[in-house]
Amino acid sequence: MSNYVKIFDTTLRDGEQSPGATMTSAEKLEVARSLARMGVDIIEAGFPAASPDDLEAVRRIAVEVGRPSVGEPDAKVPVITGLARANKPDIDKAWEAVKDAQKPRIHTFLATSAIHMKHKLKMDPEEVVQRVSEMVAYARSLCADVEFSPEDAGRSDPEFLYVVLGEAIKSGATTLNIPDTVGYTTPDEYFKLIDGIIKNTPGMNENITVSVHCHDDLGMATANALAGIQAGARQAEVTINGIGERAGNTSLEEVVMTLKTRHPVFNLETGIETQQLSRVSKLVSNYTGIVVQPNKAIVGANAFAHEAGIHQDGMLKHQTTYEIMRPEDVGVNQTTLVMGKHSGRAALRSRLALMGHSLDEAELDKAFARFKELADRKKVITDADLEAVIADEFYRPRDVYYLEGLQVSCGTLGMPTATVRLRGPDRTIYNFASMGTGPVDATYKAIDAIVKTPCKLLEFNIHAITEGIDALGEVTVRIQAENGQHKMDAQSEMTFARVYGGHGADMDIIVASAKAYINALNKLIIASTEGTEKVSNDFGVMLG
Ligand code: KIV
Ligand code: ZN
Repeated sequence: MSNYVKIFDTTLRDGEQSPGATMTSAEKLEVARSLARMGVDIIEAGFPAASPDDLEAVRRIAVEVGRPSVGEPDAKVPVITGLARANKPDIDKAWEAVKDAQKPRIHTFLATSAIHMKHKLKMDPEEVVQRVSEMVAYARSLCADVEFSPEDAGRSDPEFLYVVLGEAIKSGATTLNIPDTVGYTTPDEYFKLIDGIIKNTPGMNENITVSVHCHDDLGMATANALAGIQAGARQAEVTINGIGERAGNTSLEEVVMTLKTRHPVFNLETGIETQQLSRVSKLVSNYTGIVVQPNKAIVGANAFAHEAGIHQDGMLKHQTTYEIMRPEDVGVNQTTLVMGKHSGRAALRSRLALMGHSLDEAELDKAFARFKELADRKKVITDADLEAVIADEFYRPRDVYYLEGLQVSCGTLGMPTATVRLRGPDRTIYNFASMGTGPVDATYKAIDAIVKTPCKLLEFNIHAITEGIDALGEVTVRIQAENGQHKMDAQSEMTFARVYGGHGADMDIIVASAKAYINALNKLIIASTEGTEKVSNDFGVMLG
């Protein structure tokens, strides 16, 4: 059996499917590029039947990420897949979306648990077997690489699963993914499930890849996925930061770093360049507005912080006393003194390149201007500061509204007041002053008065990027439009109001707050007036 575990990333499908994680198609493309650069083997780019915009977003990823780039014909290209319910229209749409990739895959699914068959599908087990056989065969008539998932496998009768999966193999499936859809199983149970499938499914052979797909409702997604891998699964379906419906999916970084850190136990490899984990985690968090909890394994802000005195003492004696992984292995650069006021353009370019950002000349000019501005106000600029500036400057959609200026007065003597100046569409300048319960409230009220797009602020998070009084402040927000766009969930077939995340970074936390809010509003406005696709060419548009 191979000792290579394929990493199948579903951040853009199962991750994005969670109600609060909408990304624009430009953001999805950027995430897909980062996943490919990091060495992900398969990217599940979306659920094309959800809407024409979703189909188009998957198609663009197939074309722009799923093919070798001009200068790098030999670079590893990921498989691009799209999810489809087990019906012909969905499968046609998935094929339409992925067919231009160099390595396309169709991923189709149908539930197999008694609960799902009876209450959701209203189908008999025999009908389910029949449908799987027909739809996998149909997908295979279009595409040589077909994955089938028996949804809710974790609560399905194993004997029935052997029959369904045997039919899927007979009809041409090449990957069998075994979802613990509701995060119900324990590691021991999931091991036995995978082991039983490998041993008992008719037609199972070494060309069929068995895959794990676990949800985290009981906090066991990573443990379950690893148990399945120990039983012989050689594909892991995961998301960055473990985002996903309800409690989320198995997190990519946890599986990959466990296989690496405990190599003697598993003796298995992945193709992931782990030094990129931290950066990709940040990117996904900024785009979705879903903050990574500080104590999150591998990518949380405290994952490598050793604050307790006893730990610090041990660390000073020898790093390995309390550290099982090196921070640099996951891209957490501990260098604090990185760059300062006198560092030049070339130094910035090489630092950014080391961090995984290759900017063209115009982009470097913009980044350098921001860097100098920051260096005038802050003595030492760390990698974390640079990441925040890059995210703020480049990884955002086209500006519909742009913050030209902000003046706030607040404190104990009087009402907090904010005067906001925005540059709007057609470069019109708008000024508005507003009072509020605090400086952020006053600022957001003034922005609302100009932008006139009613929305609900669901979440507001602020944190200092580095230590010290001169730290950059980073703000993420999540907003929901009143009467805004909805999206369909592949499995429940219910629609949810789209939620948009925004990100802003600045030395001044009220400015960072304003930027984050405007960033989220811009996404909402573009999506509701023009469709998300229109945003897709707009990364890299610099501020005028
Ligand atoms: O959790 C699940 O069952 C899924 C399938 C559609 C693969 O995400
Ligand atoms: Zn899932």
